[in-house]
Amino acid sequence: MIERSDAEKLPRSCHIPVLVAEVLEWLCVRPGQLVVDGTVGGGGHASRILVELGQDGRLLGLDRDQAMLEMAATVLDHPGCTLHQGSYSDLASILSETDQPTGPIDAVLLDLGLSSDQLADDRRGFGFEHDGPLDLRFDTSQGHAAWEWLATVEEGELEQCLRGWGDEPESRRIAGELVRRRKSTPVRTGRDLSESVAEAVGGRRGRRHPATRVFQALRIAVNDELVHLERALSDSLPASLVPGGRLVVISFHSLEDRIVKRAFGKQDTWTNLTHKPVRPTPREERVNPRSRSARLRAAMRA
Ligand SMILES: C[S@@+](CC[C@H](N)C(=O)[O-])C[C@H]1O[C@@H](n2cnc3c(N)ncnc32)[C@H](O)[C@@H]1O
Repeated sequence: MIERSDAEKLPRSCHIPVLVAEVLEWLCVRPGQLVVDGTVGGGGHASRILVELGQDGRLLGLDRDQAMLEMAATVLDHPGCTLHQGSYSDLASILSETDQPTGPIDAVLLDLGLSSDQLADDRRGFGFEHDGPLDLRFDTSQGHAAWEWLATVEEGELEQCLRGWGDEPESRRIAGELVRRRKSTPVRTGRDLSESVAEAVGGRRGRRHPATRVFQALRIAVNDELVHLERALSDSLPASLVPGGRLVVISFHSLEDRIVKRAFGKQDTWTNLTHKPVRPTPREERVNPRSRSARLRAAMRA
């Protein structure tokens, strides 16, 4: 639990929440309800949801990243708001803990992936130019940092990861180069990784940094992101939402969107409300370029 008295000393989020009006429309929040923001991040969406919930409403904000929860606490000053470190895929068991809000959940929001605050934090390794350790974990107390994984992973497994989760067309060449180089110059930082990838593929390709897909693939791998999403959609969220309760998912990766679309097709569990994903307007894309790849889908608990 985050102590609100410490919140004033902490930095505020620089993350711009995406598709805010659309999230509120599809979540259909009403005063007095109980809502879960399963990826609360810096609290951008959650603060807007709390306005809709009014003084009698309650919001449980989850994040795997303790640093994000501390940031969220600076903006979520509401008597009905609780913040908790954990994965949305464990929602059902989190709700059974004694200090958590009780009662049926009316709506859940998942805004997947990475926040701009994590990207900006030099200690986490999410940025191409960062000299901090290439960690890439949301929860740094669990599992292995990306640099540790890269030190021992087999070339074939690395290639598969880059191809499967990064759609990286040069996966074989990059995996070969990273494994060959690690004996003499192992990857330790974000900068090490982006330089190794740039060398392997011969510099920039278009407007994107050549290591964009590699960072994405490694982040998905070290956090087991797709496993958490699949588990949540089939077990934890259906078990926690009241019949008729809303689930809104924003994804930034085609694999995530495919998992959500497939899950919402299971009519014994979900009533799909958005047959095509909702996209940001051209204006939002201009103002917040990060929103360009966002896809929102909504469903109702059957
Ligand atoms: C795009 S950001 C959310 C931003 C937030 N909606 C806002 O408006 O500030 C995604 C957040 O989800 C968190 N996250 C990723 N996977 C998670 C999981 N399985 N369970 C809980 N949080 C997760 C990340 O740590 C990150 O803070």
